[in-house]
This record gives sequence, C-alpha cells and structure tokens, in this order.
Amino acid sequence: MVCQPGSYFYDSFQLASEYDKLSNPQFIQGKKLVSLLKIKKGQKVLDIGCGTGRLAAYVAEITGREGTVIGIDPSPFRIDIARRREKENLKFKVASTEDLYLFKDNYFDVIYLNSVFHWIDNKPQAIAEIYRLLKPGGKLGIAMGAKHQNLLLMSIVRKSVQSVLGYVPKEFDTTEYRREAEEAQGLVLESGFKILETKTQNYIDLFKTGEELIRFYESSSGGSLLREFPDFQRKKIISHIEQALDRLKTPKGIAIPHSILFLICEKPK
Ligand SMILES: C[S@@+](CC[C@H](N)C(=O)[O-])C[C@H]1O[C@@H](n2cnc3c(N)ncnc32)[C@H](O)[C@@H]1O
Repeated sequence: MVCQPGSYFYDSFQLASEYDKLSNPQFIQGKKLVSLLKIKKGQKVLDIGCGTGRLAAYVAEITGREGTVIGIDPSPFRIDIARRREKENLKFKVASTEDLYLFKDNYFDVIYLNSVFHWIDNKPQAIAEIYRLLKPGGKLGIAMGAKHQNLLLMSIVRKSVQSVLGYVPKEFDTTEYRREAEEAQGLVLESGFKILETKTQNYIDLFKTGEELIRFYESSSGGSLLREFPDFQRKKIISHIEQALDRLKTPKGIAIPHSILFLICEKPK
C-alpha cells in the first residue's frame, strides 16, 4: 500500500493499540524470519523498528534468560505498548536507524528488520551501521514486501485514485516495493555482507470488510496511508477503496494475496 516513506508523523496511541491487535500478518511473517535466522538460546538480538514488541517478546522466549533482546522504534506510542512486555532479558527504547551509534561495535549476534526497511530514509547508512554492530559471523535478517507486492490491492488503489481525481499523478509510485527489494540486496552486498539465503513466500491475508483492511493499513503505516493527497480527496479515495474491496467479499472474507521477500545475510567471520 502507498505510505509516506520515512514518516510516522501521524502516529498516535490509538493507531499503535490497533496495530498491536491487527498485526498478525507481520507477526506470522516475523516468526518465519526468526526461524530462517536460526536464533539460539543465549544470543544478543536487536529488533529494529520493533513496533509494539510482539515479535521481540517471542524472540526473548527463544534466547532465554541467558540472552538479551533489545527492541527499538522511533514511535513513542509503539514503545509505550512494547514496554508492557519488558522483562529481564527484553528491553525497549525509543530510537530509530539514525540512532544506531548508541550501540557498541561487534555486539549483536542477530539484527533483524520485519516490515521496516521501506520506512528508512538513509538506507546505506543504516545497513553500514548494522554491519558495525554485528559480531563477525553475526546475522542480519530483513523481511519486506517482495516483487509484485499486493498487485490486486494496488490496482484497486490506482482505480480509486483515478476515479476521485480523474487521473493518477505521476509521483503516485506503485512500484516502490519492487525497487526496494532490489535495493536491499544491492546494499547488503556493498556493505560487505554475504547473502546466505533469499526466499519469497506468498501469503493470503483475510479481512472481514474493506473498512477493516483500511484500519490494518492505517495502523501499520502509523496513519500515513495516502497522505500525499489533501484530506478531502484522501477520504473520498479511501471510501472508494473500501467499497471496491467490499465487492470482493466471499463467505471467507476479502482475500488479499501478497508476497514477502526474506533476506538472510552474514557478516563474514
Ligand atoms: C509495519 S511496522 C512493523 C513493526 C514490527 N517490526 C512488527 O513486525 O510488527 C513498521 C515500524 O517501523 C518503524 N519505523 C519507521 N521508521 C523507522 C526507522 N527509521 N528506524 C526504525 N524503525 C522505523 C515504525 O515506527 C513502525 O513501528
């Protein structure tokens, strides 16, 4: 879905609480990322863009008391909820990829970003910093929208924009995800990582109504969904999208297929 990159400006406590309840798709894909990273007991793990901390809490169960999991996120609303999950081996902090200087060289065994990469403004700097923080032999895991991300949804969004505005603005870029999946692979190699595995997995998310789907994307994007349009147009476009989605409803719900790219990398020993 089209969101304003790098901005959680519109986030709120309500959106963060909704995300905590609606984020099963990210949680399921996150568990897959964690299994591909083969996280072990006793390891030190950094979850960048941890949101409300569901996945970090799951990882802390794996690393156990001998390990440490730190979750960072720039949204104070999301960290507020995450902190309710804190325990001895699981801590959260308001910080973004711009603040990675806070951490020591060669410290973490594993660092991951689950549905976060496309939000980062300065991606080369973030990847270079992650490289510095990992121990030799340490692993970086990225899960992100893969090529052909949400084709069905994107075509509904484009049609709705066309119908409300009478045209689709050039800057309304729907190929963002495809470019970023390629960019991520280029960047990790340039920073010195070895790619251990790339895997694309298809998922189908089910929503009861178009309105529920919009709430999911609103809470996932910190309220920045379609903010490139002025409010009066944005509301019309969203209502158009909801109606188009409701027409796709089956007894099981509205099925939205999408694919996720998993990138598993290693800092050479
Ligand atoms: C879709 S949510 C994913 C949250 C979490 N990783 C999960 O799996 O549920 C994207 C998260 O990225 C965070 N984010 C946005 N820009 C960021 C940045 N530059 N550095 C770190 N996190 C960022 C947002 O605040 C938000 O919590």
